[in-house]
Parts: sequence; structure tokens; C-alpha cells
Amino acid sequence: MELKIYKDKQEVAHKFSAYFAELAKGKSSFHVALSGGSTPKVIFDILAENFADKIDWANIHFYWGDERCVPPTDDQSNYNMTVEHLFSKVEIPEGNIHRVLGENDPISEAMRYANLLEINLDRVEGVPQFDLVILGMGDDGHTASIFPHEIELWHAEDHCVVATHPDSGQKRVSINGKVINTAKEVAFLVTGPSKAEKVQAILEKVKGFDAYPAALVNPKSGKLLWFMDADAASLVATNSA
Ligand code: 6PG
Repeated sequence: MELKIYKDKQEVAHKFSAYFAELAKGKSSFHVALSGGSTPKVIFDILAENFADKIDWANIHFYWGDERCVPPTDDQSNYNMTVEHLFSKVEIPEGNIHRVLGENDPISEAMRYANLLEINLDRVEGVPQFDLVILGMGDDGHTASIFPHEIELWHAEDHCVVATHPDSGQKRVSINGKVINTAKEVAFLVTGPSKAEKVQAILEKVKGFDAYPAALVNPKSGKLLWFMDADAASLVATNSA
């Protein structure tokens, strides 16, 4: 595990973008699962505005680690957010964007997406393997859309599951723990003071830490990076990058 702590969101965005460009460089096909929510917005903005000519977008295939079960034009849609902050700014072949069809029935869409991953990605012991999974972490310690109140979904046999947001009841399609931990690399993007308590709990294995799905991220490849700003890492005893 590697902690990469920077002074603020903008620096996290620049450093992550450089990491992403380097990781994807020279790969004829690079399969990445994106995270959603609000953290990625500034990351995607900076990736698009500062690294567009450093990346061969035609070789990158975009998926989502989780998506809200809403239409693609909905403000809640992670796909819609990604269009606004990234896809509307760089030339990406339509065929390289593999969105979760949030407008469809959640259960059938989870099955469809799982099959799509099995077809498009290499498999390790039957589990689809991403080159990179990008994850956020909620204030409650959830990641992708595996929430503490239904942490059993982390261990689901199905590669994609239907989750329920604990407050809004919103349905979501999410990849499961096996898909996340089979990835060649996993990068957390966690910023802001509201994450500090859970970051400390997870990184310092504070009693009860394993009740948080984000604590279960442990890729078999061993390549796990936490990109954080100083606010999110403020309670973690370490030197900043
Ligand atoms: C989503 C995300 C989710 C997100 C965390 C952090 O669909 O909301 O994939 O896992 O990464 O909730 O969200 P913020 O970046 O908005 O804090």
C-alpha cells in the first residue's frame, strides 16, 4: 500500500493525472473502472485540461465501479458527471465508453454488466481483471456502492450486485469485492476533512475498521495507492509526499 498525500485537491488531481497517464502509456488497451460522486470532478477536469495530449485515448476503455440506477442524463448519474468533466473535453471513441445502463432494471443490468466485464476483460480465476480500479470512499467508509449496512455484498459471487443507498434508498449497480481485489492496480481518490476519521480508522486498523467496505480493499497484486489531500489524511501518522 502506498500513501500519496498532497497539499490540496488540485495537487491530488495533478499527481493522479500524471500517474494515470504513465500507467496507461504504451498499452494497446487499458481497461479502467471509474469512481463517481463529487471527488472525481476536479480530477477529470485537470486530466482533460492538462493531460489530454499525453494520453492515447483510443486505447483506453472506460467502465464504472458503480453507477446510480438513474437515466444517463440525470444529475445523479456518474456517467453524466464524467461526460461533463472529461468526455466532453477529450476525443474518446464511443465504443470505448461502457456505461452501466442506469435507466434499466437494476437486477437485469447488474447481470448484463457482469457479462460485459467477463467478455471485455481478461479473467483471473474467472474474475474479470481491470488494469485500474479508481475508488472513492464515503464518509461512512463505503466504497464503490458497497455500503456498511449491506457489507455482505462485498463477498457476493456475482461480479456485479444491486446495492441500496442507506439514506435515499436509491438503487445502484456496483462491482463486488472480488472484482476490485482482482484489479492489477487500485487507486483511492479521497479528499476533504469529512473523510479523515475513516481514513485513520482504516489505515491504522482502529477497532471495528473492518466494518467499513473501504477497509476490505486489498488487491491480490499488492498495488494499492491512496491519493489524498492533507485534510483527508490529517489524522494519519505519516510524512506527506
Ligand atoms: C458514488 C461513488 C461513491 C463515492 C463516494 C465518495 O457513486 O457516489 O462511486 O463510492 O466514491 O461516495 O463520494 P464523494 O467523492 O462525493 O465524497
